[in-house]
Amino acid sequence: MEVKKFMVIGAGQMGSGIAQVAAQAGLEVVLHDVKDEFVNRGLGVITKNLARDVEKGRKTEQEKQDILDRITPSTDLTNAKDVDFVVEAIVENMDVKTGVFKQLDEIAPAHAILASNTSSLPITEIAAVTNRPEKVIGMHFMNPVPVMKLIEVIRGLATSDETYRVVAELSEKMGKVAVEVNDFPGFVSNRVLMPMINEAIYCVYEGVATPEAIDEVMKLGMNHPMGPLTLADFIGLDTCLYIMEVLHEGFGDSKYRPCPLLRKYVKAGWLGRKSGRGFYTYQ
Ligand code: CAA
Ligand code: NAD
Repeated sequence: MEVKKFMVIGAGQMGSGIAQVAAQAGLEVVLHDVKDEFVNRGLGVITKNLARDVEKGRKTEQEKQDILDRITPSTDLTNAKDVDFVVEAIVENMDVKTGVFKQLDEIAPAHAILASNTSSLPITEIAAVTNRPEKVIGMHFMNPVPVMKLIEVIRGLATSDETYRVVAELSEKMGKVAVEVNDFPGFVSNRVLMPMINEAIYCVYEGVATPEAIDEVMKLGMNHPMGPLTLADFIGLDTCLYIMEVLHEGFGDSKYRPCPLLRKYVKAGWLGRKSGRGFYTYQ
């Protein structure tokens, strides 16, 4: 199967990045969110990224325009009726995601693959609400999508070899490297990354050091490009909490207990960079 028309559900930080790399790969892209303002915000980010590429001489103005012209905005899910491939990148919540997958299963053509960019949720469970579990797969992009090379590809119990093959080919077309993993809570990426972030938050909570000091230790001492608290703000503290909850519930092991300070920040609406405040403040 050749993928020509590609739909992204959710125009937030991940969805906009996915739409950008798909359009750069020459696909016709539909970028969907619940409100025009969210779609426009996503398109604004893509335009800014492409303008930087033009400034840096990596793309011509014409290429930038061609990429933007390949992206069609949408707030109507029935636009999925003629797509070959859908990637969902909405909130990290099983009920909300399965609600969207049920609708997509009814609207999208029978041949269409339905992928999720979930950070941690079981693909098998998402697939089970559809009548095409063999065509459901995890396609986990990393943030920021235009820069990061990895796509963690997660096979659900019923995912077919053909579906995997299409995703692996698509990843390569987007200039990414697909790595196959099995369907366990947090997969590999967040099972390893998120406990480190959670532990860094415990260090703030227990007064071991300031956020700045913790980030400096990990940047200068371990050569991480960003300290764990800067990274948590970048990912979104709500997303970090959802992922820790999936690990905690999925493994039933207290070592994954989300730090109470993380819960408190999320309850306060301190979601990190996207809300202007997290462990740091942003204008
Ligand atoms: N969108 C697009 N491009 C971006 C960007 C963004 N949000 N942020 C940075 N870039 C580009 C910049 O334009 C720059 O390219 P040029 O200079 O060639 O134009 C390049 O990336 C490097 O950026 P900077 O020089 O500004 O800063 P940096 O060297 O610190 O790199 C970074 C930025 C690539 C984000 C780097 O800090 C980094 O790798 N951070 C860690 C990111 C990470 O761990 N991501 C995974 C998060 S976990 C996840 O995604 C999974 C999950 O489920 C939660
Ligand atoms: P975000 O909050 O930036 O964006 C989510 C978008 O989804 C919002 O624009 C919201 O309006 C939209 N949305 C919510 N419900 C919707 C619905 N029913 N239909 C259409 N649109 C809807 O979130 P994000 O950081 O882009 O994360 C999205 C997904 O990607 C989550 O599953 C997250 O775990 C995963 N993810 C996040 C990161 C990260 O670093 N933030 C990395 C990899 C994967």
